[in-house]
Amino acid sequence: MTTPALQARDVTMRFGGLTAVRSVDLTVNTGEIVGLIGPNGAGKTTFFNCLTGLYVPTEGTVSYHDKVLPPKPHLVTKAGIARTFQNIRLFANMTVLENVLVGRHTRTKEGLWSALLRGPGFRKAEKASEERAMELLEFIGLAHKRDHLARNLPYGEQRKLEIARALASEPGLLLLDEPTAGMNPQETRATEELVFAIRDKGIAVLVIEHDMRFIFNLCDRVAVLVQGEKLIEGTSEVVQADERVVAAYLGEPFEGAPGDAEAAEVEAAEADAAAAGAEAPVTDAAETGTAPSTDGDKSAGTTKGEAQ
Ligand SMILES: Nc1ncnc2c1ncn2[C@@H]1O[C@H](COP(=O)(O)OP(=O)(O)O)[C@@H](O)[C@H]1O
Ligand SMILES: [Mg+2]
Repeated sequence: MTTPALQARDVTMRFGGLTAVRSVDLTVNTGEIVGLIGPNGAGKTTFFNCLTGLYVPTEGTVSYHDKVLPPKPHLVTKAGIARTFQNIRLFANMTVLENVLVGRHTRTKEGLWSALLRGPGFRKAEKASEERAMELLEFIGLAHKRDHLARNLPYGEQRKLEIARALASEPGLLLLDEPTAGMNPQETRATEELVFAIRDKGIAVLVIEHDMRFIFNLCDRVAVLVQGEKLIEGTSEVVQADERVVAAYLGEPFEGAPGDAEAAEVEAAEADAAAAGAEAPVTDAAETGTAPSTDGDKSAGTTKGEAQ
């Protein structure tokens, strides 16, 4: 039996005169892997930002298990939705284990005083948290790197670590924004297996990706966004065969960097949204020299928690 987990109804997001997302409905049922595809600039990341409370939609509602979500990222996480970012957001100077522990924060009851006093309750909770974090690192295949600094991981492993950190909040729904961007074909196939394994744990997945083979292999349903509007939604077979989808992709290249104007806009938006505090995240694939992301990875110097 399918039960809706996430329900986005009539979601519209305008930036001044630009309508980035227009009246989009989308449902993700429990146990499902749903794909969201579309050319660069179609509004996919903006839609994710509306789902996760980073943006307050101009119109429409987002509910999770029949409760309307307040548009506040920490409340959305608390409700059971976790995400990764198109541009990797890790704490570069923290270890692999510490990065996952940060992700557990919303699920631990111990408060600030308890942490400061380091009483027995805190130590017990800390131990349990660490055990859970290690389980997740085992699951993701990074347990052997627990004490490595995030910045020293190769690019593909940084992406995996981001997924482990997202899972640490014990979500019922995981949103992945271009999880295989910059990965080689082997890493991409491994990520496919990983997403199936996540689904098998009972976590629903909504994934944005440009790699069509990845999407059509993986997803129970695929929705296509073009210029902010949902063009079609259906099974991989139905979507793949749709002439309009083919045209949308052939009409616009979906690999490579976007135009300078768009890149500048996104950079400006990120600068606006940048919250104070927190360490600098790992921003690109400098260590491995691989191309980090299809949008050219404009996150250098930004902080965790903003829009892209
Ligand atoms: N914070 C913002 N302010 C203004 N325009 C934005 C902002 N975020 C995204 N946009 C614009 O919205 C459109 C959709 O962008 P985006 O959601 O990043 O597309 P996608 O993820 O599908 O490539 C683009 O034209 C982009 O420039
Ligand atoms: Mg995007």
